[in-house]
Amino acid sequence: MDALPPVFFEIHSGLVRESPGTDEATTEAWYRLGAPTGVRAVDMGCGPGAASLRLAELGAASVLSVDLHQPFLDQLVRRSADRGLDATITPRCADMATITAADGPFDLVWSEGAVYNLGFESGLRRWRGLVPLGGLAAVSDLVWLTDAPPPEAGAFFGEEYPDMQTARVRLDQVATIGWSVRDHFLVGEDAWNAYYDPIQVRLNALFEKYSDDAEALAVLNAHQQEIDGRTRHGSSYGSVFFLLERAT
Ligand SMILES: C[S@@+](CC[C@H](N)C(=O)[O-])C[C@H]1O[C@@H](n2cnc3c(N)ncnc32)[C@H](O)[C@@H]1O
Repeated sequence: MDALPPVFFEIHSGLVRESPGTDEATTEAWYRLGAPTGVRAVDMGCGPGAASLRLAELGAASVLSVDLHQPFLDQLVRRSADRGLDATITPRCADMATITAADGPFDLVWSEGAVYNLGFESGLRRWRGLVPLGGLAAVSDLVWLTDAPPPEAGAFFGEEYPDMQTARVRLDQVATIGWSVRDHFLVGEDAWNAYYDPIQVRLNALFEKYSDDAEALAVLNAHQQEIDGRTRHGSSYGSVFFLLERAT
């Protein structure tokens, strides 16, 4: 992320979350998965750590919070200290592809809006090796809600996430790589608002600040296009939590 232009960080620094989500959705995933109190979790691509904090509050014994971007982890360290959760949460600045079972032990792999960075199948194949048989995973990822996406949305995600699939395809894929599905659900529109509303406030101010800066405007326009696309085509895609148990 450090090669990105400075305006990118003006948009994203200090946000509570970096993908569609809420504490309520994290909590729902925890209970639908049947995660027991005392699990040892790893939160892959944790960003500023909203899910890590929630897992610790829900009863995880430990959370290894992994992200490549140190400033996100610094935020998480401050928030976990503020909430008295710093003994439970351990930040690790690392590529999530490099985490192995030796970094655990882990009973639970958690990841909200980040698995696409490894590729959905590739990530879940890799993460299966982090937990024992019967071990758990909760992974949220963008999916198409239609087999015929509107052309504008299709073009946007064709660039941003070319391997985006329907939930049905993802459910078939996880079965072939050794996970069984305990449950899955579509996160609500409140989760998108929780992500986009604070960004929109910043965009409004930054469009003024950078009105003469073509490079910054390109970044701002790309964010605005994403948010406007959600308004126009949000019924055609969503974020689904896949709640999995290692089966083989
Ligand atoms: C869309 S954000 C989601 C962050 C967080 N889970 C949330 O919901 O707020 C994806 C995160 O993955 C991180 N990331 C991307 N590739 C990564 C990698 N290979 N290893 C570790 N973190 C990675 C990014 O730095 C970013 O924080």
